[in-house]
Amino acid sequence: MDITVRPISKDENRMFRHRLVRAFGFDLTDDPDDEPRFLEQIALDRTRAAFDGENLVGTLGSFEYDVTVPGGVALPMAATTMVTVQPTHRRRGILRALMLAHLEDARAHDEPLAGLWASESSIYGRFGYGLAADLVEVALDSRAIDFGSGMPATGVQFLEVDDAKDALPPIYDRVRSSRPGMLSRPEGWWKWRTFYDPEKWREGASAKRYVVFDGGDGPDGYAIYRQKEKWDDFPEGQISIVELLAATGEAHDALWRFLANIDLFPKVKYWNQPVDDELHWRVTEPRRVQRKISDSLWVRVLDVERALTARAYPVPGSLRIGVHDSLFPDIEGTYALTIDDDGATCSRTTEEAEIYLDIDALSAIYLGGRQLWSLARAGRVHGTAATIRRADAVFSWDPAPWTTSVF
Ligand SMILES: CC(C)(COP(=O)(O)OP(=O)(O)OC[C@H]1O[C@@H](n2cnc3c(N)ncnc32)[C@H](O)[C@@H]1OP(=O)(O)O)[C@@H](O)C(=O)NCCC(=O)NCCS
Repeated sequence: MDITVRPISKDENRMFRHRLVRAFGFDLTDDPDDEPRFLEQIALDRTRAAFDGENLVGTLGSFEYDVTVPGGVALPMAATTMVTVQPTHRRRGILRALMLAHLEDARAHDEPLAGLWASESSIYGRFGYGLAADLVEVALDSRAIDFGSGMPATGVQFLEVDDAKDALPPIYDRVRSSRPGMLSRPEGWWKWRTFYDPEKWREGASAKRYVVFDGGDGPDGYAIYRQKEKWDDFPEGQISIVELLAATGEAHDALWRFLANIDLFPKVKYWNQPVDDELHWRVTEPRRVQRKISDSLWVRVLDVERALTARAYPVPGSLRIGVHDSLFPDIEGTYALTIDDDGATCSRTTEEAEIYLDIDALSAIYLGGRQLWSLARAGRVHGTAATIRRADAVFSWDPAPWTTSVF
């Protein structure tokens, strides 16, 4: 079987979308929005498709986002997406060929990082991606929880969608600058993902509602949510939060108080909360906020020197890191990281490493959300106990990595 891997042309976009949705179990429809939604977001020259003769049998795309790293710097990231292989052609190495072509392309574009959300967490470690960020799915019944039900949620107001288009992006960017893992949002994202709200995506719930919190100095937070009414003997309505972003603690509290106190809608769900969210500490009975943890952003370091130099570290010091990379042997080697008052530098060294790890483990700890001790116990990081302790302090970061953009 001869498989060719190459970018698609504009004329091939329908076939590409057809194969993509079929692999995920959906059907291509004649919705006139589908083609512009695709073409306005994806760079065709960054796609990679696998062809068996004329037959398109594998898809992959790459968005060009910046990801915030510890300290607030935004680094270019090849956002790996739309990865599929048709079931007629599975397990013959087509994914591997697509991933190699994609990561080589990312390196050619000078992107020091790649990132993705995985459909299955077993797939991408072999390509050097490490699980860098988690999400917490929370669900609560506000009747059983003391969340300031007697307190008015002052400062929260509704916005119509046209006003939300102006108000939300600046708040998003404020939060993005301080939270590792957050992604830049091009115009196409806001248009087609945030504000595009066709009925077919609502699953019986309301249109998206937009609220902002203004404590007096301008908007400091927003929430996007849907409502779904339900009645048994009592009202059992559901609030589903699509996105809640708060630049201040006051905005966080006011938005949660508002969402947890909407009459007739006692059930509140948020599918994606940061692992270190303060809601846990704000309620009188934290166990009543059900929490389920899952993986979110996977990261692949493609340029160790640039990535490690760009991020900030909470303590000064130095560390020699031995990196193994079976996909790109030229990345493999020992790197000296030095952190002082002027920032960090990372460069290759011929000296012996103090800790050793595979590139997927380095990628997992890169955004600061992992405990090296835990990886060391799992045999994923090697070094003396004293060095692991030092490395753990060096790589940790507050706040925890989190991303609100699923791509
Ligand atoms: C996941 C998918 C792309 C794999 O494609 P494929 O062409 O069969 O994969 P390959 O043959 O290139 O496999 C490469 C390696 O990944 C492994 N692998 C592939 N899919 C895997 C899976 N779902 N779980 C665990 N390992 C997987 C293979 O065993 C192989 O391992 P090796 O390196 O030890 O040889 C394909 O099954 C698919 O389209 N699934 C449905 C859509 C999907 O989930 N896409 C991923 C979106 S994030």
